[in-house]
Amino acid sequence: MATTIDEPQTTTILPQPRTRVLAMPEYHPPLAGRHALRLDFNENTFAPSPRVFAKLQQLTAEGLTIYPEREPVERIVAQHHGVEPSQVILTNGVDEGIHLMACAFLDEGDEALICTPTFFMYDVSISMMTSGLVRVQTDDSLEFPFERFHAAITPRTKLIIVASPNNPTGATVSREHLLAIAAAAPQAVLMVDEAYFHFFGDTVLADIATLPNLIVARTFSKAYGLANLRIGALFGDARLISFLRKVSSPYNVNGVALGVLPEALADKDYLDWYILQVHQGRERIFAALRELNLRTWPSAANFVLMDIGPRHKEFAAAMRARGVLLRDRSTDPGCDGYVRITIGVEDHVTRGIEALRATLAEMQWTPAESMHARRASSQQPTAPREFE
Ligand SMILES: Cc1ncc(COP(=O)(O)O)c(C=O)c1O
Repeated sequence: MATTIDEPQTTTILPQPRTRVLAMPEYHPPLAGRHALRLDFNENTFAPSPRVFAKLQQLTAEGLTIYPEREPVERIVAQHHGVEPSQVILTNGVDEGIHLMACAFLDEGDEALICTPTFFMYDVSISMMTSGLVRVQTDDSLEFPFERFHAAITPRTKLIIVASPNNPTGATVSREHLLAIAAAAPQAVLMVDEAYFHFFGDTVLADIATLPNLIVARTFSKAYGLANLRIGALFGDARLISFLRKVSSPYNVNGVALGVLPEALADKDYLDWYILQVHQGRERIFAALRELNLRTWPSAANFVLMDIGPRHKEFAAAMRARGVLLRDRSTDPGCDGYVRITIGVEDHVTRGIEALRATLAEMQWTPAESMHARRASSQQPTAPREFE
């Protein structure tokens, strides 16, 4: 009998990340290229204030060698929003703000509460810290399910994130409901994400003065048109903000963004003009979608969700072929068959509507294809899914 000699074992030892890093989901931005009319990411579709661009042209080579100073601009942002400098921290977009919130306030085992469908980065940042993510699913109306959400708060809840207006639904949450949530969870931080505040108008920003567990997030990526520069702000009680400062890197916001932000804030006329463009565009989109018999949901943001049905992929691809990018939200919970369109300036809305009409006609799309019509005809119950 032949004897076998064991090969020497060559075990490679590789470093492993934290368990939560292995478990957390990844955010995958669409990679197909965006050289077309950008009605897919809820950005400003046109430009920031011309004052921002003028300031950019004053950039010097030496200026690029200097580490950025966040504090002087935080003082300007605080004054602009009627709060104290200790009540604001500037972040690398609200994306980083969400990340800092999770780092500062969540331990493994803590619960964090969100309402789905919503902005996916909440899932990413929360899951990085804890396995205790609790999702409360909306029903078919896509409205914020206040009672069920409120009932999902437990003594272990440490972070609650609510977007108002919400992405991708455009739904809002009343101040009364937000304050009730904050009161029901004094051991938790409530972060109200007001990324789309400018297109809506209601805010709980003034409530940071009296609520020790409230953080309000604002971005300069949307109405202000600065998405490429990555700048956002978190407002809250000075005590909460001090924890966020501790976990943020000292130079998290670049000097170009810090340099132009005061110009953007000062140009109220430009901001008002852009907001009006979106309000008018939103009315035009709703009118066109009604005429095309497309089901939509009320939106207070710069986008609208529509119910295309099973041919959602074909629809988004056909729109892309016509030079208009949309965002297929079908993989969001409760959004199967739904596609989102961003509202921009007048000409972009016109081109979006023209492409919509042409695409639906070319596809010979009928309202009977919508998920709503299909559900009604199959008489499937549309009961809300409990905390998934
Ligand atoms: C609700 C919501 N919050 C935050 C963000 C991200 O904002 P920022 O560009 O400031 O990171 C988005 C972007 O789409 C969003 O929809």
